[in-house]
Amino acid sequence: MAQRIALFNHKGDVSKTTTTFNLGWMLASKGKKVILVDADPQCNLTGIVLGYTGITEFEQFYEKETNLRDGIAPAFESRPKLIEAVECIPVTGQKNLFLLPGHIRLSEYEVTLGIAQELSGSIQTLQNLPGSIAYLLEKTAEEFDADYVLIDMNPGLSSINQNLLMTSHFFIVPTNPDYFSVMAIESLATVLPKWHTWAEKARTLPILQTAAYPFPEITPKLLGVIIQNYPPRGGAPTVGFQRWIDEINTTVSSKLVSELRKIGMMLPDQVYRAENMGAASCLATIPDFNTLIAKSQDHQTPVFALTPEQIGQAGGVEEITLKSRDSFQQIFSELADKIIGLTTHASSD
Ligand SMILES: Nc1ncnc2c1ncn2[C@@H]1O[C@H](COP(=O)(O)OP(=O)(O)OP(=O)(O)O)[C@@H](O)[C@H]1O
Ligand SMILES: [Mg+2]
Repeated sequence: MAQRIALFNHKGDVSKTTTTFNLGWMLASKGKKVILVDADPQCNLTGIVLGYTGITEFEQFYEKETNLRDGIAPAFESRPKLIEAVECIPVTGQKNLFLLPGHIRLSEYEVTLGIAQELSGSIQTLQNLPGSIAYLLEKTAEEFDADYVLIDMNPGLSSINQNLLMTSHFFIVPTNPDYFSVMAIESLATVLPKWHTWAEKARTLPILQTAAYPFPEITPKLLGVIIQNYPPRGGAPTVGFQRWIDEINTTVSSKLVSELRKIGMMLPDQVYRAENMGAASCLATIPDFNTLIAKSQDHQTPVFALTPEQIGQAGGVEEITLKSRDSFQQIFSELADKIIGLTTHASSD
């Protein structure tokens, strides 16, 4: 069965979308079949993959292609038909990679889902909503024989996020080396236990167990934290940024991991140790892509997979840029290997 991995931080702009795309591509290049799910109404992931920049392109796209919102519509609009797998879009340049596109009006379902999740157990007509997104993702993964489903979430603590996170098998927390990410980790240490309590309750409610889309029996586990987008100086972060990297690591191990461990949202210690991860569960520190990010967006290709033609520079500059590309190739390859290692150990545990 495919493993669903949510990329979540309620803080915005921490590289959730960029990492979903890059990591998904790298996992696919290692032979895994991967579906990228755009669960953010901003639809940045869909835009990155398809090269869209304007609203008109999205509107034309929705006329012919299905998406996450259309996929769950049977449940949310009480249609007399079952949810079916979404026809995902093959991602150009990477044969094992597919996109389940997002919808800019996904947030219209936010309020109804919120009510369903608050009142689950008391209102029969809403019983099919809490399990519907996971059901759709599972059906779609089965149809595509996927190994991984990577979910790019929107920033915030919305009901959709609560649902996506608590019905995923694993999650990754992307961060930036700054004060705001430290604060975000502190608040996740209090929010996630509350979401866990809700999910535990939802799982035991007969009304959700007997729904057309039963609420899944899953306790999501933290794969780890990624610290990204600091300006590199000779390959290493400057003193100022290193301080924030240390601060994030300390906050993760002393506050987040300790809370998650109490409620079973961590893997056994030895699984992290086997991947050489310490107490801070840090999966990777990733520097600023610099000029490569613009090329990556121009060509809908991750920074590490850009060809010299796509990079298109001359002489000495090209050499430096290619070296930088190769260092990102190494970083993402190691990250993908860790994800494969952690998820494989976890399921054989
Ligand atoms: N390593 C990096 N180096 C340089 N720029 C980066 C890096 N990672 C992400 N970015 C840029 O930072 C910005 C934020 O990244 P991204 O959109 O992936 O964040 P996000 O967490 O998905 O944001 P949101 O919360 O709005 O969904 C984007 O402009 C992206 O191109
Ligand atoms: Mg995003």
